[in-house]
Amino acid sequence: MAGPDAKGDAKGFVSLVSSGPGDPELLTLRAAARLRQAEVVLYDDLSSGPILELANPDAELVPVGKRAGRPSAKQEHVNALLVEYALAGQRVVRLKSGDAGIFGRLEEEIIALNEAGIAFEIVPGVPSAVAAAAAAQIPLTRRLTARRLQFLTGADVTGALPRDINWAAIADPATTTVVFMGQRSFPDLARGLQEHGLSGETPALFAEAVSHPHQRLIRTTIAALAEMLADAPVTQPALILYGPLAQGPDQG
Ligand SMILES: C[S@@+](CC[C@H](N)C(=O)[O-])C[C@H]1O[C@@H](n2cnc3c(N)ncnc32)[C@H](O)[C@@H]1O
Repeated sequence: MAGPDAKGDAKGFVSLVSSGPGDPELLTLRAAARLRQAEVVLYDDLSSGPILELANPDAELVPVGKRAGRPSAKQEHVNALLVEYALAGQRVVRLKSGDAGIFGRLEEEIIALNEAGIAFEIVPGVPSAVAAAAAAQIPLTRRLTARRLQFLTGADVTGALPRDINWAAIADPATTTVVFMGQRSFPDLARGLQEHGLSGETPALFAEAVSHPHQRLIRTTIAALAEMLADAPVTQPALILYGPLAQGPDQG
């Protein structure tokens, strides 16, 4: 298996590590091992907190999330840092929330590492959507009535609802849809869904700060949630899951 032990030449090795939704118990054993071996850890806001306590105490911890500044050049800056640390021969962990491959701009980092000829691995993890369903004690699929599962971003690069949404797909009532980064745009999304035939009474689950001590789960409907979020400040990461399973298991 390729891994940081493959380090042998002057170039370092980068582990693109998924940190799960936040609770260290939801890290994979491989993620924890890479943190213990790291010489440098570049982490996002959502990967900070108790997970970082698992890092090698001698590792340099480098925040690269929004709070670290540089909003416009942020991704380029992260790419450059990854390459720079690796070229200096370091064992680098790039920690990304949930599963690194879901709405995590992983591709840009893979391209930068390939271009610089730096060896890397990807360590998969628990996506926040999967952790949210577990916290709400529901499955994400159901025979006949939820045969499709889709993940959607509620924010384009400007933070607004993406314009080129496939409305037919996301207004399909026999589907479980999970919206990431959708708190601000959900009122618009819910309006569009109803215009495309989805009932306002469709069950919805609002899952905030999943797996954190202040986790909040609210079972509601898409229409009521749109109203609730219209004036609500965004203070925590949250997901919106809608579809038949959002109201809980079918007891009948
Ligand atoms: C940039 S995306 C990264 C998603 C991540 N790669 C994943 O697999 O969960 C950030 C968004 O993921 C969701 N998210 C991440 N962690 C979360 C958590 N612990 N609770 C609720 N939502 C979370 C929120 O919608 C947040 O705005």
